[in-house]
Amino acid sequence: MPDPSFGPLLPREGDVAVCASERLTDGGSGVRFAVQTRSGRATRPSTGFVVRFLGTVYGYLNQCAHVPTELDWQEGQFFDHSGLYLMCATHGAVYEPESGRCVGGPCRGGRLLALQVLECQGMVYWRPDDAFLPPDRALIQTHARKQ
Ligand code: FES
Repeated sequence: MPDPSFGPLLPREGDVAVCASERLTDGGSGVRFAVQTRSGRATRPSTGFVVRFLGTVYGYLNQCAHVPTELDWQEGQFFDHSGLYLMCATHGAVYEPESGRCVGGPCRGGRLLALQVLECQGMVYWRPDDAFLPPDRALIQTHARKQ
């Protein structure tokens, strides 16, 4: 399982620019983005999200470990009122932001699926892999590492 925050690395070709760093405040709103999940030859449209917690950006597939539904009760609202845990709006499962591990509610023992993200020079990037792909690479902004 990828580390949900594996900085400090530099963006490389194929990384997807998700948002400006300033959009993510600690324990505040997150940013959703389109993802395709792949299982064997099948792909399925989904969403991922990034949030900031204790200064670090974390990324996950936007899918509860209890029932495969999106977590946010309003777009981008992933934290509970305390700003300490990610919460599923459907049945109230709570997750540690830094690990994605479920620590309360009906998902106990489960965890969110981590996406690889990094933050560099005021931007947050998602690094696709074999399991999580951009929906249409032709339409997204990529960042090539400067040599
Ligand atoms: S669907 Fe998330 S807690 Fe049930």
